[in-house]
Amino acid sequence: MLIERRTRRDFLAGAAKAAVLGLSGTTVLSGVSAFATPPIEPPASAAEKLIPYGAAVRSDALASDLTYRAAMAANCQIIVPESELKWTELRPTRDQYRFEKADAILDFARLNGIDVRGHTLAWSGAMPAWTDAIATPVEAERELVDHIQTVVGRYRGAVQCWDVVNEPLAHWPEDDASFRPSIWASRLRGNYLPIALRATAAADPGARLVLNEYDLEFSGPRFMARRHALIRLLRTLRDRDVPLHAVGLQAHLFADRAIDRDGLQTLLAEIAKLKLDVLITQLDVIDYELPGKVSERDAQVASLAAGFLKTVCEVACPKAIVTWGLSDRYSWVPTYFKRPDGLPNRPLPLDADLRPKPLYDVIEEFRRKAA
Ligand code: XIL
Repeated sequence: MLIERRTRRDFLAGAAKAAVLGLSGTTVLSGVSAFATPPIEPPASAAEKLIPYGAAVRSDALASDLTYRAAMAANCQIIVPESELKWTELRPTRDQYRFEKADAILDFARLNGIDVRGHTLAWSGAMPAWTDAIATPVEAERELVDHIQTVVGRYRGAVQCWDVVNEPLAHWPEDDASFRPSIWASRLRGNYLPIALRATAAADPGARLVLNEYDLEFSGPRFMARRHALIRLLRTLRDRDVPLHAVGLQAHLFADRAIDRDGLQTLLAEIAKLKLDVLITQLDVIDYELPGKVSERDAQVASLAAGFLKTVCEVACPKAIVTWGLSDRYSWVPTYFKRPDGLPNRPLPLDADLRPKPLYDVIEEFRRKAA
């Protein structure tokens, strides 16, 4: 296919160019902005119509691996620090803020004209042990608000969009007050969401505020319960006049789970009724139980993502498509979902040698089609 051939060749051209320029450490690569850099600059209007693509990024790899750095610059219009803005990274002790790693990512983004999503301010995960000592609701609110004022204030204008609340719902929620156990939910109950969202809006009135959630797209009673609980939670926030702009679908797809087309589309229609945007924030395909040759697996991963993106785009045009990593060289999947046959996982758009896979072409196709 013509588009496919052009996409692959141009990605490599873009990456090579970025690699050369990146070595100097001074070059601004803002012109290298499309998912695959086109050979002839398209008219501005055509380029603007693409849905922006982004990926989670790792500061250590950015510093040590120039080919990875070049690929990020060549392909991403958005990056999201994979861990560097989480509490464990920023807050080793109660009185300390460590911004070095996050700052390095922000510098890379600024140099290359890339937008940054912030992940995340209020989550159950990645909490340093000292937070267990937060005892009362008053103390919890003070810690949460102080953290948000400091972090969001520091990156005001530089982080355009925040996953303010990540994974608020219980794994299998019974109702909209079934929150995932966390220090915030245990001390503040559901009030932690309005507190976090209002504090973020106050610290950076220009930032887009996102509620990010996982396991929303599949068939089965647990996933249906999650969709229902999310809709009720969003309505409660709206009724309380809480600032919120978008819902993030993490979209960690599983090769052995079916997408519930009607269920997902109903959820998206409800989100649209509430005048909220939709973003795809952590797309990848967890392939640990997928059999077959590499080429067959790659085709199935791409086809699963295509089915998901088609289902979403028929109802809501996502404001961004972000994958949880760019290349199989750096992915969370092997740590949590290692393959029993010992073969490497292949969850992301580029393989471990930074070569585009069929998933890459699928994302490119939907960036154009949906826009
Ligand atoms: C993961 C990171 O990718 C890992 O490197 C880290 O060890 C644990 O967290 N949902 C989220 C992300 O919201 O923050 C998680 O990231 C992946 C699942």
